[in-house]
Amino acid sequence: MKAVITKEYGSIDVLNIENVEKPVIGEDEILVEVKAASINPLDWRIRTGEMKMMTGKIPPRILGSDYSGIIAEIGKNIRNYKKGDEVFGMINGMKAKEGTYAEFVKVKESDISLKPKNINFEEAASLPLVALTAHKALIDIAKIKNGSSVLINGCTGGVGNVAVQIAKALGCKTTGICSTSNIKFAKEIGCDNVIDYKKDAVLKSGTNYDVIFDTVGNLEFTESKHFLKTGGIYVTTAATLSALILSPIANIFRSRKLKVVIVAPNSNSLAIIRDMVEKKELKGHIFKMFSIDQIKEAHELSQKGGFRGKLVIKM
Ligand SMILES: NC(=O)c1ccc[n+]([C@@H]2O[C@H](COP(=O)([O-])OP(=O)(O)OC[C@H]3O[C@@H](n4cnc5c(N)ncnc54)[C@H](OP(=O)(O)O)[C@@H]3O)[C@@H](O)[C@H]2O)c1
Repeated sequence: MKAVITKEYGSIDVLNIENVEKPVIGEDEILVEVKAASINPLDWRIRTGEMKMMTGKIPPRILGSDYSGIIAEIGKNIRNYKKGDEVFGMINGMKAKEGTYAEFVKVKESDISLKPKNINFEEAASLPLVALTAHKALIDIAKIKNGSSVLINGCTGGVGNVAVQIAKALGCKTTGICSTSNIKFAKEIGCDNVIDYKKDAVLKSGTNYDVIFDTVGNLEFTESKHFLKTGGIYVTTAATLSALILSPIANIFRSRKLKVVIVAPNSNSLAIIRDMVEKKELKGHIFKMFSIDQIKEAHELSQKGGFRGKLVIKM
């Protein structure tokens, strides 16, 4: 099969398209013919070696976490899916050596869901990792509910735009932070208020939120906590060692909590995300599509930034 193989850490030049053996599935696994995959910052962070401490694996590897596709083979213990089912999901890109930038990927039954019926493979591939992150941060960790006031930093990025839509669907009052050129998009996806970080102070006196979700990693808790209501929660995607280790202890003594979200495959949450898409409460926003042969260009743009929503690879 055709796949993007990375044999060493480095620049986009280490992304090579090669023909490799198709993954061989075990009794509890499913082989998916990948129709589309999407790019996440995690992919190029692994490629550059930035995540070396956590990936615990040296190249060669196939990068990529998100996929949508059609089931090509099932292991003999698989009960809930059959060959030909259209599915979507994420694999643990940090651990997996055989990622989704390939014509086939092997996955676990506990990590996948049927694809939403009302969207194509490209839109479906744009959702799993970012939607699972936003869902976990806002619903499982921050427990947002109807009427919560939520501030989302990076509201037009991959995680941020889904977070806005989830908060909106739950009836929250949503404020987003983005750059000038993305303000119109931020309003279109459901932000009640938008703060332009290029022009304005992002945290303004007189504003208090129930939840602050920092999807960018540049809104410090030490500053943000002054803009949280008593009992409010700050969640970040920036999994720094100090936040991971010290905050659970410090939170015991704080009235405003610092939490870190770490995304993981989860078929139950994915099924909720599928339902939201089918009810038109959630949509995948694709900024640009690429062929697998344009993988270097796609990584370059993801790393450079300055776009909205997601970058998708069509197989
Ligand atoms: N912990 C986890 O499990 C987990 C899961 C998913 C993602 N992440 C991490 O979360 C981060 C976001 O992921 P993503 O997929 O959403 O990335 P992304 O699609 O590249 O979005 C990043 C967003 O950051 C915004 N941004 C850049 N500079 C900013 C600033 N100074 N102030 C406010 N916003 C700014 C950009 O908006 P503008 O274009 O408007 O500047 C862009 O929309 C990445 O670092 C990723 O690695 C972690």
